[in-house]
Amino acid sequence: MTGYGKRPRGIKELWRNNRFMKPSILPLSAAYDRNSFTCGVPQLDNYLKTIASQDIKRKTAVTFVALDGNGKTIQGYYTTNVTGLSREQIPDALVKKYKVPPTIALGAHLLGRLAVDVKFQGQGLGELLLMDALKRLHLISQHSAFFAVVVDPISPAARAFYEKFGFMDQPDSKRMFIPTATLDSLFN
Ligand SMILES: CC(C)(COP(=O)(O)OP(=O)(O)OC[C@H]1O[C@@H](n2cnc3c(N)ncnc32)[C@H](O)[C@@H]1OP(=O)(O)O)[C@@H](O)C(=O)NCCC(=O)NCCS
Repeated sequence: MTGYGKRPRGIKELWRNNRFMKPSILPLSAAYDRNSFTCGVPQLDNYLKTIASQDIKRKTAVTFVALDGNGKTIQGYYTTNVTGLSREQIPDALVKKYKVPPTIALGAHLLGRLAVDVKFQGQGLGELLLMDALKRLHLISQHSAFFAVVVDPISPAARAFYEKFGFMDQPDSKRMFIPTATLDSLFN
């Protein structure tokens, strides 16, 4: 495995680069082998193996997987579902910037889990999965508006990973988020 090509430098270049949609990143199906998946965080491995399909059936989260060339081995995955944000969960500077009214409940999408198998970590796949998720969510935002994409970093390392891509701390929570308006300026 040699990775996914030369890394572009600079965040805008990074986010706009078309290589992000190239590998097979598809909705989870029973045809794929999830049993060998190991990302180093048992909670995230177990989710893929035992809960993801149930969440898909009950419409509480969707899972997208990155597949190896054989079309069966899962190299990484992410999940998304709808969530919300209150005004208090947005930093004051952004409340002012977007003139968020005091009473409004804000829509958001949660990128609840993102994991790469240890065999493929450090080769650009985490970044690729993140960009795939954000591009799909950006498309959704053009049909039904929501304020932000929220993430749930599972560790300080995960927090550092998201920070690198412009996610900021959600006040009074361990979650982080990025305003959808930022995705507009990056992907349009
Ligand atoms: C976090 C995780 C998804 C990153 O995936 P990955 O494929 O190893 O990361 P990539 O190779 O795509 O790295 C992309 C960029 O992020 C950086 N990065 C990766 N992990 C990082 C970390 N923990 N802290 C800071 N930066 C990080 C890389 O250095 C790279 O930057 P560069 O292009 O400037 O070199 C992966 O390590 C993982 O699955 N960890 C266990 C589960 C987890 O923590 N999930 C996080 C969400 S809950």
